[in-house]
Amino acid sequence: MAFYEQEVGVLIPEDKLQARVRELGAQITRDYAGKELTFVCVLKGSTFFAMDLARAVDLPLTMEFLGVSSYQGGTETTGEVRITTDVSKPMAGKHLLIIEDIIDTGLTMSFLLENLRARHPASLKLCSLLEKPSRARTKIDIDYKGFVIDDHFVVGYGLDYGEKLRNVPFIGVMKGK
Ligand code: PRP
Ligand code: MN
Ligand code: MG
Repeated sequence: MAFYEQEVGVLIPEDKLQARVRELGAQITRDYAGKELTFVCVLKGSTFFAMDLARAVDLPLTMEFLGVSSYQGGTETTGEVRITTDVSKPMAGKHLLIIEDIIDTGLTMSFLLENLRARHPASLKLCSLLEKPSRARTKIDIDYKGFVIDDHFVVGYGLDYGEKLRNVPFIGVMKGK
């Protein structure tokens, strides 16, 4: 029995996740053909998704990582977004695709889009595995979207609960929450 089974139920199983990742990868491959693509992966939540998606994209891509935190380990957004780790190269003139695990209130992404736009990339698009529209506080256009979910506190496949449960291999929900 896996360590999480008592507390985590399945919302999106692994096979469904991986099938959707492959579809998104194929779509990105078509859209960016002939361009030099840079993934801007948002630490830490997007990492599992980003690693799988990168392998589903049939193009030579560059990976950058950017840390933004607003939840600071808790279950409610603090509303205050901070860059905790910046990318390693200038972003000017590059085709940037932000890779995120979830757009919830949208506050993190609204901050990040504005921050990256100010660095004058050649293009800036967003790919998010999940969208939770019921809690949106600001409108975010997602160019590549995995799944739309109801108002559950989700964990697994990168998403944490108090920094834990990121390594649950599917998108799960906390039982009794
Ligand atoms: C989570 C999640 C998104 C963001 C979404 O990150 O990974 O980045 O919150 O929430 P929002 O739309 O309400 O802003 P978190 O701040 O928990 O950091 P983490 O990725 O390191 O867990
Ligand atoms: Mn995050
Ligand atoms: Mg978190």
